[in-house]
Amino acid sequence: MVTKAVLPVAGFGSRMLPASKAIPKEMLPVVDRPAIEYVVQEAVRAGIKEIILVSHSAKTAIEDYFDTQFELQHQLETKGKDKLLAEVRDILPDDVSVISVRQHRALGLGHAVACAAPVVGDSPFAVLLPDVLVDCDGQNEDLKSMVDRFDASGFPQIMVEEVPENRVDQYGIVALEGAAPARGESAVMRGVVEKPAIGEAPSCLSVVGRYVLPGEIMKILQNTPPGAGNEIQLTDAIATLMENQVVEAYTMRGQTFDCGNKAGYLQAIFHYAAKHPELGEVARSMMAETVG
Ligand code: G1P
Repeated sequence: MVTKAVLPVAGFGSRMLPASKAIPKEMLPVVDRPAIEYVVQEAVRAGIKEIILVSHSAKTAIEDYFDTQFELQHQLETKGKDKLLAEVRDILPDDVSVISVRQHRALGLGHAVACAAPVVGDSPFAVLLPDVLVDCDGQNEDLKSMVDRFDASGFPQIMVEEVPENRVDQYGIVALEGAAPARGESAVMRGVVEKPAIGEAPSCLSVVGRYVLPGEIMKILQNTPPGAGNEIQLTDAIATLMENQVVEAYTMRGQTFDCGNKAGYLQAIFHYAAKHPELGEVARSMMAETVG
């Protein structure tokens, strides 16, 4: 059973400056809640019970957000603001805990994940990169499908989606045994390479930022030398894992939004505003008016 998830949140978010100068980029709101809440809810819907934040001293606002704010709750209760109280209280179900570990040095995504090793132990775990929001429209949740597939087969799952050929150098890119799996399906991977040069990529299937991995990847990460960008890459550890074990690429069904850059963040705001249960109608008419 996969019940742990690692969320690396130590990065400074320089692509979101100046907005991210005094607020963690993960705390920037997408409509009426911080971006990180969407990612945590996605993990919770996949059955995750322990969220492990790999964080930094400048980013304690993230831990605070998932903690109980007793004074605030008491005030809302006294004033009879029941709806708001429920919203604040329901951010996290009672059986889900948030644990925080620190990444003392920015040595790459692989290093960040390895910082969670003392909490993960030998257990399998999911990794969710919080820059990426995944919307499955409340149906056929991709991360949940990946967890189910891992539980059934024991094969690690790497979520992928197709990107245009001129953008392969921004992602981990997978090579497959055969054709790309249909949406919502997995296929055996033959290789994976971090940010290949354009023209040298084995495919256009990019690693999206959702992984279900076995505990043993932690040991591999500890012995993984710096790779692309002189950083310790999770992709390189997955390539090593594949030497002894079948790893599968899972083709996602949902839609992704990269909130790590300004255009992707804006797109996420439009998307989630338009489908918001209370604000959607007004948001859509505002957008139509603005475009005019
Ligand atoms: C990371 C991973 C990369 C993956 C990407 C998805 O790269 O290293 O394999 O494709 O996230 O967003 P980063 O965006 O941190 O450079």
